[in-house]
Amino acid sequence: MRKIMRAAEFQSIVVLTGAGISAESGVPTFRGPDGLWEGHRVEDVATPQAFRRDPVLVQAFYDARRAALARVAPNAAHAALARLDAQWPGDLLVVTQNVDDLHERAGARRMVHMHGELKSALCLACGERQTAPDTLSDGPACIRCEARRLRPDIVWFGEMPYHMDRIETALAACDLFVSIGTSGAVYPAAGFVQGARHAGARTLEINLDRSEGTHFFDEARHGRAGELVPLWVDALLKR
Ligand code: APR
Repeated sequence: MRKIMRAAEFQSIVVLTGAGISAESGVPTFRGPDGLWEGHRVEDVATPQAFRRDPVLVQAFYDARRAALARVAPNAAHAALARLDAQWPGDLLVVTQNVDDLHERAGARRMVHMHGELKSALCLACGERQTAPDTLSDGPACIRCEARRLRPDIVWFGEMPYHMDRIETALAACDLFVSIGTSGAVYPAAGFVQGARHAGARTLEINLDRSEGTHFFDEARHGRAGELVPLWVDALLKR
């Protein structure tokens, strides 16, 4: 942690997280040897077209991922970000691409899910968002309009990520941008580092290995999020 960025110069922080922050909790990442996209084709389970073509397959895929949440727990990296959330006196926004609920379970509050949440369902008839029951496969009724047309509240490929106005406002105002556990393969999240740089922010990557965007960052730390994120947060809070 020799050069890792210290607090004194910062006021407003944006943290982007990806599947790598949940890997040590036992949630599979997407890319790489044991990644979800090695076992499933994106086009079969993660597009609006796939849902129209084979809703049974798509619901079963997300039901299984939702059920798996009960078997995992937040790790030291989620806990460190929750500590930052509780103690950082300046502005903070944690933007996660993850659809698990591990940031919230660790205690995070100043955060948004840009790719949706497994714990949420969206009614295709009336647009109501609601807590997802354990399974959507048996066609439960919407709590508002009672139509049996609930889909996973997940942003699929080809759909618009959530909370983009709030994220872009935070990026334009931040002076520190930190990316944790993401391969930098999927836009718009992969472009946030450039947006933050444009706004004059310093940028730090924490990832197991080099990502597709490593060269955009002022500083990169490669290793496990469960080890490096607590070190970074401790250094930042120790002003
Ligand atoms: N600590 C830190 N980084 C890790 C760890 C770990 N313990 N384990 C894995 N990583 C890194 C990997 O090296 C990889 O660069 O996390 C990254 C995970 O990359 P992806 O699997 O591509 O996940 P992510 O970047 O979140 O994917 C973005 O793609 O399929 C879509 O919508 C999905 O939100 C997802 C988006």
